[in-house]
Amino acid sequence: MDRLISIFDLEGRDIEELLAIASSLKNERAHVKRRRDLEGKVLALIFEKPSTRTRISFEVAMLELGGDVLSLNRNELQLGRGERIKETAKVISIYTDAVMIRAYAHSTIEEFAHYASIPVINGLSDLEHPCQTLADLMTIKEYRKQLRGIKIAWVGDGNNVCNSLIGGCALAGIEEFSVACPRGYEPADRILKQAESLGCVVHITEDIEEAVTDADVIYTDVWVSMGAEAERARRVRVFRPYQVNEQVVAIAKPDAIVMHCMPVHVGEEMTESVLTREEDVILTQAENRLHTQKALLLKMLK
Ligand code: CP
Ligand code: NVA
Repeated sequence: MDRLISIFDLEGRDIEELLAIASSLKNERAHVKRRRDLEGKVLALIFEKPSTRTRISFEVAMLELGGDVLSLNRNELQLGRGERIKETAKVISIYTDAVMIRAYAHSTIEEFAHYASIPVINGLSDLEHPCQTLADLMTIKEYRKQLRGIKIAWVGDGNNVCNSLIGGCALAGIEEFSVACPRGYEPADRILKQAESLGCVVHITEDIEEAVTDADVIYTDVWVSMGAEAERARRVRVFRPYQVNEQVVAIAKPDAIVMHCMPVHVGEEMTESVLTREEDVILTQAENRLHTQKALLLKMLK
């Protein structure tokens, strides 16, 4: 395993293995906090945009595995003043053992990986958020016991988190995935095609009720992703009918769970009452970022 730029860099069996390792690390963490597996290894984190969970979970993951971590803001690097990605990637490959990048454009991470000689991890791009998907699949498995045979309903923007989740579900053998979104905000075509080739046909509709009926999992994310701030007024108007509130939750299976990658914009994509009731699930997603990323780092660096 030497890159995680798209969720499709993994195979179904890689996901199974990562979730198994993550789950054993999670159990172990109750009594063993520090391991030494990655002693002497350094992970660089490069951020073009803000982050709470991704940054902290990767930092703590490296610390708890005995390695070291450098968190770098793009604007503190010569990258911010025009040094090319090509040379930056080659130089960072000399100093560190792996790099995670959170970038605006997915192509930035692909270009970096092309020139780097170390593993590269996508910490969110405009197209995908594969690390989030690993944590989400782990969470779904914990709450629903199994991944196969369940129905997932995505409500809102068919964005980066949605794209990777579709891919991850397809790889994990989930065959029923519905998306309720306004026209023009569908998941990316290339993701839908890749999912379809794995036997997961994504049903896209503008009708929330159609998507959410019989769902085991309802998933939503912000209406205005990082980088789309200029479209805020239009997006808030277009997505208003796609709020996950009590009426929407009532359409799903009675024991359905509601998920969100966070940060939540309360009163926009999710109401306070749904957030409060589903807080355990949503915080478990955040917690599982730590365990799944540890599993990923062990596979890549040990
Ligand atoms: N879910 C997630 O990636 O959160 P951050 O933006 O805080 O990293
Ligand atoms: N779709 C959101 C996810 C944040 C973790 C964004 O890209 O801003």
